[in-house]
Amino acid sequence: MNGFARDYEFIGHTGDVTVETDLLSMLLNMHDYNHQNGTHRSLFTINSVEFQSFQDEGLHSHAYYNMPRSQPSFKEVLSNPAVLAMPQTIEAHLENFFPSLVIFHGATAIGIVKQVHLFIPESLTRTRTYVLMFGKPLSPVFRLARQNILNLAKTVVEQDADILGKIYAGHSQKIKLNNEVGMNWVRRNFESFPEVVGPNLSR
Ligand SMILES: [Fe+2]
Repeated sequence: MNGFARDYEFIGHTGDVTVETDLLSMLLNMHDYNHQNGTHRSLFTINSVEFQSFQDEGLHSHAYYNMPRSQPSFKEVLSNPAVLAMPQTIEAHLENFFPSLVIFHGATAIGIVKQVHLFIPESLTRTRTYVLMFGKPLSPVFRLARQNILNLAKTVVEQDADILGKIYAGHSQKIKLNNEVGMNWVRRNFESFPEVVGPNLSR
């Protein structure tokens, strides 16, 4: 965070919500690399999630995956013009600091974005989350799009808040999905925190 504050412009904060869910459920949602394709499909017109790799460094990890998109409709562009600046394939790099931070490192044609999601347990059944956004403009359009970029992140948080409690409640795993390495990383660390135990989940 200190590095971001030093090297990037602060774009703003958004998506400050308290959700009626426990911390583990919120973290499982954030590390579920399949859910982009469901929960956020309409927002980003994501076709699929192509998982690349996961680097497990204990309480710190990196996940890389690509999300090819279809062209957004006219209506979707009108509802948020920032989708126009998104590449045809979103190359996602998520950096995770268990249990409190997930950072989306994003690059678009108009600028670099560091989208930081923070998680604060408020009680056993309530968890607060919010987003701090930092960026580096590559075009003058970037600063003009500031509010649109924040609104995209706000919509992402609202979609996650809506889905939480519906599908992660009880978090018993009934269906084995692909790309679940991030969720396994969360479960392992949640049980052993602050100790780090095996297995190492890098792949
Ligand atoms: Fe999400």
